[in-house]
Amino acid sequence: MKVWMQVPILIVDDEEEFRTMLAQRLQRKNYQCFTAANGVEALALLAEREFAVVLSDIRMPQMDGLTLLEEVEKLKSGTQVIMITGHGTIETAIEAMKKGAYDYVTKPIQVQELEVLLSKAAEKYHLYRENLHLKAVLRERQPDTSLIAVSPQMKSLLVKAERVAITNSPVLITGESGTGKELIAQYIYQHSNREAQPFMPINMGALPEQLLESELFGHVKGAFTGASQEKHGLVEIVDQGTLLLDEIGDMPYALQVKLLRFLESGEFRPVGGTRIKKVDVRVIAATNANLEDKIAAGQFRADLYYRLNVIELRIPPLRERREDILPLSNYFLQKKSIQFQEEKELSKEAEQALLHYDFPGNVRELSHMIERGIILCPGRFIETEHLGFPQASELFSKTLTPLKEMERQHILEVLNFCHWNKTKAAALLEISVRNLYRKIEEYGLEPKDLSRSSF
Ligand SMILES: Nc1ncnc2c1ncn2[C@@H]1O[C@H](COP(=O)(O)OP(=O)(O)OP(=O)(O)O)[C@@H](O)[C@H]1O
Ligand SMILES: [Mg+2]
Repeated sequence: MKVWMQVPILIVDDEEEFRTMLAQRLQRKNYQCFTAANGVEALALLAEREFAVVLSDIRMPQMDGLTLLEEVEKLKSGTQVIMITGHGTIETAIEAMKKGAYDYVTKPIQVQELEVLLSKAAEKYHLYRENLHLKAVLRERQPDTSLIAVSPQMKSLLVKAERVAITNSPVLITGESGTGKELIAQYIYQHSNREAQPFMPINMGALPEQLLESELFGHVKGAFTGASQEKHGLVEIVDQGTLLLDEIGDMPYALQVKLLRFLESGEFRPVGGTRIKKVDVRVIAATNANLEDKIAAGQFRADLYYRLNVIELRIPPLRERREDILPLSNYFLQKKSIQFQEEKELSKEAEQALLHYDFPGNVRELSHMIERGIILCPGRFIETEHLGFPQASELFSKTLTPLKEMERQHILEVLNFCHWNKTKAAALLEISVRNLYRKIEEYGLEPKDLSRSSF
């Protein structure tokens, strides 16, 4: 749709007769004219509203044309300035063009010549504004998705990602939890030729089978109880776009064969429907599970795996690419500092601690640590203790207790529960009484505080 609008311009000249006459002439030509007697008046108007073009005399009292030009440039509004020169100011006009003026015209003014210039300058202004607008829209659509890649592993992964991005082949992204699988999927999408089309992640583990199927492929009216309306599946909604099947390892087995067919032909059938539909969707799958183990356990179809695995992008855990730790830390620090409006830095000691930590939760864990650090640190420097590393003892009791120790504690607990009645305890533990005696001896177990027990 083309909207017809008057182009707002500002005429600045100290000769009142000249500026009103010019304004009247241009007003008839689709320009909405404003006038000012000097630079100071002009700036006051510029502060109030947008102008596509400023037409300004050079010699004026109070503030001359060159100074006005400099002030307009500072606004970065895209407003174009055309200088009007009288006798003996041509040199100044040329200087003005070096400073960013669009062009100049000489008095006496040829109105037709001026109109050509004005319309070109206005066009330049509108292009500038349109560009600003488009950039703002794009930024809004992709809220700061910076990807930090300093280590050689990540750099070569990105090269590979860019190469697969321009193909239509399915991609399988693997990596431990929090390594950045979704981020890499977005990176592929942004470097593909489907960038103008939608990108949509969907988690394969979050929904029960029937709902997931209808979410993906849609359903017809009355397909199941509650299906009161026909519904389009995601594959149809993102047609021409990119779909991220997240946690693909959790996809219900029965649905996997339908996905396989979809990957091979783009064809699918909505739940309860008879008609086969066809779309063109780029599929990226991601998982932190070992799909080969899932195949061995009968939970994942081998044929689907081979179809998805044409190209595998494996993101290494953070501890295998320690060069990324500090750049990532600084990135999160900067991002979160803006959010919390506080500027913080890592102390040297905290940096060392991060560099030597293993990050079982990978990049996500690091980002949470930095966030905690910013919140907990009272001064400018974030120290090691603000980052909240798991305590060694915590690790020991939570995840690293040896099996023998677990067994010892468990037997003791059962014995105490049965008031050291060994026949009962052995029965509960489902081992022989003789075996139990052996373990009591082996672990040196003793009834404690028997005096307080009931018998
Ligand atoms: N290289 C990176 N640069 C910047 N931020 C990153 C990077 N890698 C990961 N992140 C950030 O870390 C967080 C976790 O990343 P993401 O969600 O992509 O991981 P994931 O592998 O999909 O995790 P999960 O297995 O838990 O789904 C996100 O906030 C993401 O923006
Ligand atoms: Mg993820």
